[in-house]
Amino acid sequence: MNYLPNESRYVSMQYRRSGRSGLKLPAVSLGLWHNFGGVDTFSNSREMVLRAFDLGITHLDLANNYGPPPGSAEETFGQIIEKDLRPFRDELIISSKAGYTMWDGPYGDWGSRKYLVSSLDQSLKRMGLDYVDIFYHHRPDPETPLEETMQALDFIVRSGRALYVGISNYPADKTREASKILKSLGTPCLIHQPKYSMFERWVEDGLLDTLKEEGIGCIAFSPLAQGLLTDKYLGGIPEGSRASKAHGFLKPANITDEKLDKVRKLNALAQSRGQTLAQMALAWVLRHEVMTSVLIGASKVEQIEDAVGTLQRLDFSADALRKIETILKG
Ligand SMILES: NC(=O)c1ccc[n+]([C@@H]2O[C@H](COP(=O)([O-])OP(=O)(O)OC[C@H]3O[C@@H](n4cnc5c(N)ncnc54)[C@H](OP(=O)(O)O)[C@@H]3O)[C@@H](O)[C@H]2O)c1
Repeated sequence: MNYLPNESRYVSMQYRRSGRSGLKLPAVSLGLWHNFGGVDTFSNSREMVLRAFDLGITHLDLANNYGPPPGSAEETFGQIIEKDLRPFRDELIISSKAGYTMWDGPYGDWGSRKYLVSSLDQSLKRMGLDYVDIFYHHRPDPETPLEETMQALDFIVRSGRALYVGISNYPADKTREASKILKSLGTPCLIHQPKYSMFERWVEDGLLDTLKEEGIGCIAFSPLAQGLLTDKYLGGIPEGSRASKAHGFLKPANITDEKLDKVRKLNALAQSRGQTLAQMALAWVLRHEVMTSVLIGASKVEQIEDAVGTLQRLDFSADALRKIETILKG
């Protein structure tokens, strides 16, 4: 049966402008890092992507190395495009990245022009696309001159492989430098993708101010600390959860009693606000004016529905914010 999207998909989603650009992103975006690889069940991956689109999530985030095995999330997504989403390509913002180890030898990692351009060509082939909407440099490269990496991003846009470019995991000073170079080349940096959640707050130390000044948007990855900022680990590590899987990036050692104690208190606060902890954690990230979107992951359709429910309660009183600070400081 042909996929027909929900006709009311644009009614309740919020779309936020990315920095000083023409592009708006959904306040909740879906990332395909875990649960969309060759080791996962295709029907579940497909169901999640289609449910996301039905809920107004127009932005799907990938990278060359997502899987496992690396590259397989882009292949899975390519199959979903081919089967279902090709007619809706102009309603979608698809991103990919290069910057981490992808293939053997000196050209399959970091930030050279050689790596970025050939990696994106491989990504486009895997996804069956002519272009991506956003292409990111995935992490700063201490050895390649920043000019070369930024020139490669500019070339990628001018050659039609991407519409916009972004950077990920760049500290504030390197972000400012990269932004200057990109502006001088005529391809401004659209967006920065940093890790940000109640448990990971480095961006508050200068990056968010830099983004505001430079007119760059922000999309926060792992806003639920990979599932820790939900109620799922309160009674132990459930079978099938990310922390239970050998290839999951959340390790049982990350789930400490100290964290669980905070999660328990945050969970009670969220309940008193009439929302789930996941929703409160996402709303808390979205409270910054510069925050364009929260980039969630999911293993089930219900988690995506829970995340979209965040939009029903985004406000925080000064008192609620103080309570959260007190809990986080422990
Ligand atoms: N730029 C970078 O360097 C970088 C790095 C990492 C990630 N990313 C991007 O960010 C995206 C999101 O990262 P993430 O997956 O770590 O984000 P996350 O939203 O912090 O964690 C997602 C995981 O939390 C659990 N979860 C989600 N909603 C839940 C709910 N309502 N109740 C209980 N558990 C819930 C699920 O894990 P279970 O499997 O346990 O159900 C889900 O897979 C990635 O897909 C990728 O696109 C970028």
